[in-house]
Amino acid sequence: MNEADSEEMLLHLFGFGYQKTSVLNEADLVLINTCTIRDHAEHRALSYLGRLAKWKAEKQGRKIIFAGCAAERLGKLVQKRFPQADIICGAKSLDKFPEILEKSSLFKPIKTANTPKEASKKVTGQVSIMRGCSCKCAYCIVPYVRGEASSISPEIVLENCRQKAKTHPEIMLLGQTVNAYNYKGFTFAKLLEEVCKIPEVKRVRFLSPHPVFIKDDFYKVVQDNKKIARHLHLPLQSGSTKVLKDMKRLYTAEEYFEIIKNLKQLDFLISTDIIVGYPTETEEDFKQTLELVKKCNFSFAYCFKFSPREGTPAAELKEIPQKIVENRLNILLNEIRECSALAYKSRIGQKEEILFETKNSGRTSGNLWYRTNTLEKVGTIKEILIKDSNGKILK
Ligand code: 5AD
Ligand code: SF4
Repeated sequence: MNEADSEEMLLHLFGFGYQKTSVLNEADLVLINTCTIRDHAEHRALSYLGRLAKWKAEKQGRKIIFAGCAAERLGKLVQKRFPQADIICGAKSLDKFPEILEKSSLFKPIKTANTPKEASKKVTGQVSIMRGCSCKCAYCIVPYVRGEASSISPEIVLENCRQKAKTHPEIMLLGQTVNAYNYKGFTFAKLLEEVCKIPEVKRVRFLSPHPVFIKDDFYKVVQDNKKIARHLHLPLQSGSTKVLKDMKRLYTAEEYFEIIKNLKQLDFLISTDIIVGYPTETEEDFKQTLELVKKCNFSFAYCFKFSPREGTPAAELKEIPQKIVENRLNILLNEIRECSALAYKSRIGQKEEILFETKNSGRTSGNLWYRTNTLEKVGTIKEILIKDSNGKILK
């Protein structure tokens, strides 16, 4: 989501004559798009902003924009403590980013502005389909900094997809609970179906679905459309039904596993997010998470230590000692490594459709990496027999 937001902000900055550089000393402006989902992310953003004071003082006219979720949560504090930030634009105001620039005397639109061209040349074009989140997971700050869920009209989404598909063969639909998309009865399944009809679109992915919003119409649309990638990043968070209830995740471990079984029948690979050390997680709960991880055989997982976020219900609970949490995290990471290697090795001897993202590497529909010694055209899909894997890449 943040990457897509950054890209959108970049396009607007092009309209003010800016170009992209990754060399700090060449830059006249630094855009910091922040995340606040865990304490660590927020600290990193603030300490980077702190370090930029020196950079700004070294040359007249240098500017800093501090944007996104941490800017939403800490806007006032940033204004007081970091005067080097010229513009603070919180996540709820990102829609108004162009107006904020226009209103600021610091930025002048350029008549012969770089017409918004693509900010990135990646194979995947990201398209936001909804903003915010109406789930109230007990640990999560997102609904507070991004607001309630609201779906973008299918006309706008499909037009964005058509535009992106001209240069990006893979489309990634984005939303905090992407499959909760519903615009006046126009459902997520219907939207997927329509995106698949765009001739230039070769593959469709989406991020992040929530298990409770997976309905029968989704399975149906997947069966009918080969363009939909056979990979789902489906956050689990915990394998204990008791902890899931405490987290207010709205599904049981058994219900989650049922979804995995359905998806596997459709040849899906599944990756996930898991939080370890949630305050109510006992050793037995953690064991249940490990057991479910083994059963689901995830191809990949992001594993996070619980991070208390001020204002969320979970932040009021007594934390588990860090040593225990770290120990659980290491055990889980080892398990995930094994699962991931298995997912790769299970593909040996099978034919896979590779979408090339560089001349010699690309991803399967199931989101596994493939590398070859031959040279291929970036952006093309080729059916390839998988000969080998070291557990981290297909060959
Ligand atoms: N602590 C740790 N991890 C969190 N996530 C969200 N909030 C927290 C938190 N307070 C994780 C969840 C989510 C992912 C994007 O970040 O696993 O799926
Ligand atoms: Fe946060 Fe995702 Fe839960 Fe929404 S569904 S509150 S974004 S963890």
